[in-house]
Amino acid sequence: MTFPGAWTRIRIFSTPRAVGQALGRNLARAISVRPSLVLGLPTGHTPIPLYRELIALHCSGVTTFNLDEFLGLPARDPRSYRAFMQRELFDHINIAASQVHFLDGVAADVDGECRRYDRAIARAGGIDLQILGLGTNGHIGFNEPAPALVAQTHRTRLRPATRRANAAWFGGRLRDVPREALSMGMATILRTRRIVLIATGASKAATVARMVRGPVTPRLPASFLQLHRHAEVWLDRAAAERLKDC
Ligand code: GLP
Repeated sequence: MTFPGAWTRIRIFSTPRAVGQALGRNLARAISVRPSLVLGLPTGHTPIPLYRELIALHCSGVTTFNLDEFLGLPARDPRSYRAFMQRELFDHINIAASQVHFLDGVAADVDGECRRYDRAIARAGGIDLQILGLGTNGHIGFNEPAPALVAQTHRTRLRPATRRANAAWFGGRLRDVPREALSMGMATILRTRRIVLIATGASKAATVARMVRGPVTPRLPASFLQLHRHAEVWLDRAAAERLKDC
């Protein structure tokens, strides 16, 4: 169903699984048109149903760039986003390691690593389709609510709410959640040709409503998607619940 509102591209499905299935089919079409599609990918619970669908697709020709990584965690650490992506997707599809791109959380030169990542995205011809999740505080990637946002890939300090939300990946131990991360910047994200933000569950409903109907503000980084020409928001019913109120 398409929600009749300011954003014409809001799609609402019955369940998180239905969101993943529909987006999987949509991606399958995009990949059949352009087998060398460049994809930007998120981590978190939300994209897991989508990754289940992607495993069944022939997507060995795509190139991927993940959005973010915890600072201080090497790729081999099971709590790193790199390891998450291996478990949930890359271990199950036939994709060359050279086509998978990640920020290195233990790079000796952190600023150099961020510049390297932006250059690698540019060399790949830019990102065709960026999939995003949504933090309950409105972050995308690790672009946290702040008085001002950072344009390029950068090092960032995680907000307490974000560290709490990520504690589940650290056995519930908040003290183990890194305090800093590396993230694509807002300009890097907004330069992508098409964006699909997925949000599921009642805990995201208030943030979704502010993102879609509220002002564009760095206090809610996801609101910047209102400025993008081809941004879409794919929701389950629970996450769309508060759209009715605005
Ligand atoms: C993390 C990631 C984000 C992700 C968010 C939501 O903070 N850095 O990219 O969108 O979590 O996660 P979840 O899908 O588990 O709610």
